[in-house]
Amino acid sequence: MNMLKELWNERRELVEQQLVKELAQEPPLDETLAAAMKYSLMAGGKRLRPILLMAAADAVGAKGTDYLTAGCALEMIHTYSLIHDDLPAMDNDDYRRGKLTNHKVYGDGMAVLAGDALLTLAFEVLTRQQHTDAATLLRVVKEISTAAGMNGMVGGQAIDLESEGKHIDMETLRRMHMGKTGALFRAALRSGAILAGADEKKLAALTDYAEKFGLAFQITDDILDVVGDEKLIGKPVGSDIRNEKSTYVTLTSLEEAQKLAKETVDGAVAALQDFGPEADFLRQLVRYMLERKN
Ligand code: IPE
Ligand code: IPE
Ligand code: MG
Ligand code: MG
Ligand code: MG
Repeated sequence: MNMLKELWNERRELVEQQLVKELAQEPPLDETLAAAMKYSLMAGGKRLRPILLMAAADAVGAKGTDYLTAGCALEMIHTYSLIHDDLPAMDNDDYRRGKLTNHKVYGDGMAVLAGDALLTLAFEVLTRQQHTDAATLLRVVKEISTAAGMNGMVGGQAIDLESEGKHIDMETLRRMHMGKTGALFRAALRSGAILAGADEKKLAALTDYAEKFGLAFQITDDILDVVGDEKLIGKPVGSDIRNEKSTYVTLTSLEEAQKLAKETVDGAVAALQDFGPEADFLRQLVRYMLERKN
């Protein structure tokens, strides 16, 4: 557990510093837009996606921190997805990362734009990634753009939106989660592995881990929406019930959801069986999902 928290904190600090640098590359055309982007980007957050990207690179024997820039790009896409997810037209939530949501501070229109600008900035930032070559970077651009878009995060959000107030089956729920949450985690691990020059076998194993990590993460997100402590998670509990969402908890039960989360975590650890101690961080991180409070 110590290794987990230490490395996580250390790298989270690096991510925070790098995000500030990436944001401040040029004087902004519009100060309010820049402030709105910074407000959500620097509001805390676990920084899981950049940390997973770096950990995947470590796991294949590279130096994870060499890929901090690509990690920051992913964090920007993630933050944009949260800003839009909280909008009145979507989940209509007032708090995120322990602070008022973007639209509550800057208004709906500016929040839409802050999200748009973070998404596009992410790809500009990706072009600044060093320690790689153009062909590898192009592969990473494909991974990340596909994961963020219609067959990834946005697609999953669309299923989520259409499922409000309806009973959906487990297969639809699984596909929704694979998209809205799973896709960016998958892109994080695969991008880290690709940047680090992983062979096909290791890339496949990390992809398997990633899919299970994402599923476990979203199941525990659904659980925390029911039993979480608002102060600790920094976002309102009961949002899913209020919006009549189908979640793992509503489609099964709290106990079943917890059981499935545990099985999924075990599967993620098993996916890393061919890796040595260089993948210990990834093993600990997915186990931690079962006890996370935020
Ligand atoms: C929350 O993601 C949204 C989902 C994908 C379920 P995180 O729990 O990673 O949010 P932050 O970045 O730590 O705030
Ligand atoms: C949203 O899922 C995931 C994305 C933003 C893509 P949720 O709506 O469950 O996320 P929270 O619970 O608001 O963080
Ligand atoms: Mg949502
Ligand atoms: Mg939400
Ligand atoms: Mg949720």
